[in-house]
Amino acid sequence: MRGAADAWESVSTTASAIAALRSDPTLSVAEAAPLPIAGRPTICVDIETTLPRDSDPPIFSPVVRVAAGPISLATARRLRVIWLDLPDGPIAILIGGSIDGWPRALAMAQPVIESVTFDGAGPLRLRPVEPPDLDVLFEQGRDPEANAMAAFGPVDPDDRAAFDAHWRRILDDPSVVIRVVEVDGAVAGSVLRWRDPDLDAPEVSYWIGREFWGRGVATAALRAFLEVTHDRPLYGRTAATNIGSIRVLEKGGFRPERVDREVPSTSGALVDEVTLRLDA
Ligand SMILES: CC(C)(COP(=O)(O)OP(=O)(O)OC[C@H]1O[C@@H](n2cnc3c(N)ncnc32)[C@H](O)[C@@H]1OP(=O)(O)O)[C@@H](O)C(=O)NCCC(=O)NCCS
Repeated sequence: MRGAADAWESVSTTASAIAALRSDPTLSVAEAAPLPIAGRPTICVDIETTLPRDSDPPIFSPVVRVAAGPISLATARRLRVIWLDLPDGPIAILIGGSIDGWPRALAMAQPVIESVTFDGAGPLRLRPVEPPDLDVLFEQGRDPEANAMAAFGPVDPDDRAAFDAHWRRILDDPSVVIRVVEVDGAVAGSVLRWRDPDLDAPEVSYWIGREFWGRGVATAALRAFLEVTHDRPLYGRTAATNIGSIRVLEKGGFRPERVDREVPSTSGALVDEVTLRLDA
């Protein structure tokens, strides 16, 4: 992929792509923001031209050059470019619309963005958490359906400060073992072992991003994690309604130990909670 100006000839990463955009005086490039797509960290910028909006006919400024030629941006229109580094090089996902009708253009693009997946999902691996992962994990943790399933999730899943404080505590706690679940280089979720003083042994928890559900990711991640943490017994607790999570634990060798009735969930609703246990 190449950009408009000469500098674009050397574009090989998303960072150099954005630097090239910023060097073009006919373009105005907004602050870059992270916007995870399909579990991958991306860099998202909104771009307009610096030329008069009422230019008639519109004046086009090249933004991204693809094999077929340049993709250009007209005056009075805005382009959102979401950059993503893949093993073969950077790609850009483009959303365009008129500046006046921008909210509508974004709303129309949203279902398309959510449907983006990357083929060739490779092997799953567990790895330590790195700072950029937190943007992806935060987005995955905001999903209302996931929170309804988990029942015991964060009080306000949209509160980034609370999320960051929670993760700082986790990462600073030497008794916690935590790994990012990575699928084909993308952050698919997390799995951790922690101690709750209410239990006489450690327990395991996991959270998988919705775009990875139903592909055996949690099952494979838990199995891999059981090779990392050798505590036995090891507990897993989940809302009785969270059939997927119960299955994940069962497939990991956990057996039901007890059901606690009417435990207050995050929302205050009383839910039954199942404790499963893995022995040596
Ligand atoms: C629950 C969760 C971990 C499942 O992850 P996943 O990667 O989709 O699970 P898998 O693909 O490995 O599926 C494991 C089993 O659960 C079943 N399953 C998964 N989601 C299910 C659902 N919503 N309803 C019923 N069964 C479900 C699968 O069919 C599979 O069973 P099978 O092998 O007998 O067919 C994931 O949905 C999630 O993270 N949810 C939000 C957070 C959460 O609930 N975390 C656990 C807190 S205790």
